[in-house]
Amino acid sequence: MADFIKHPVVELPERDPEPSVPADRLFFSEEEKARIATYVSRYPTADGAIMRALWLAQEKFGWLPPEVIRLTADTVGIPYSQAYGVATFYSQYYKRKMGTHVLDVCTCFSCQVCGGYDMLHHLEKKLGIRKGETTPDGRFTIQEVECLGACGSAPMMQVTNGPYVMNLTEEKLDTLVDALQEGRMPPFASVTLPQDQDEMGGNRRSDAPSQEIYQAPPVSQTIR
Ligand code: FES
Repeated sequence: MADFIKHPVVELPERDPEPSVPADRLFFSEEEKARIATYVSRYPTADGAIMRALWLAQEKFGWLPPEVIRLTADTVGIPYSQAYGVATFYSQYYKRKMGTHVLDVCTCFSCQVCGGYDMLHHLEKKLGIRKGETTPDGRFTIQEVECLGACGSAPMMQVTNGPYVMNLTEEKLDTLVDALQEGRMPPFASVTLPQDQDEMGGNRRSDAPSQEIYQAPPVSQTIR
């Protein structure tokens, strides 16, 4: 049998997984259903709304076990397989319980050539876990992720689907982890990239925020 059939690169769902969310908690409220209906109404076909709906589900349940993906698919009105495909494509959707802080280290091309793996391995050593694992105290999970769209500031990482921390160094990682341990997010105020279009010969928008951290609120909180 071909190797890729014996060892599929895509994680296949278990046939009858043990549910993680108790049946009496596995539902969307009327308000949540109305929000999902609003998402659906904004697209020509229902499947267009699945990303926002999964995001809302993750905000509510904390992560996306199979039964939550199924509930979301049913509420949107699309097949489970389609919702599962979307949920498993993006590392931003959590398919298992994560630590309080999820450290997504980009090792895609630009970050890789700029030391992304050095950053990943430094983090693994500092926290005593490997990528994909969570510290025993439940505080940190490390993920290796694909390009997060900030290649110009490589190597970079994202913290729990929120702030981007760019131009990583080992010292910056140490500062970040130590601060998160104390329950705060360091500001990292320095900027290395020109943000003004004159500096870039007119090739960059001038209204981009000149800071290293972008705090993106969860979509489910911003789109009504
Ligand atoms: S390669 Fe890392 S952000 Fe694009």
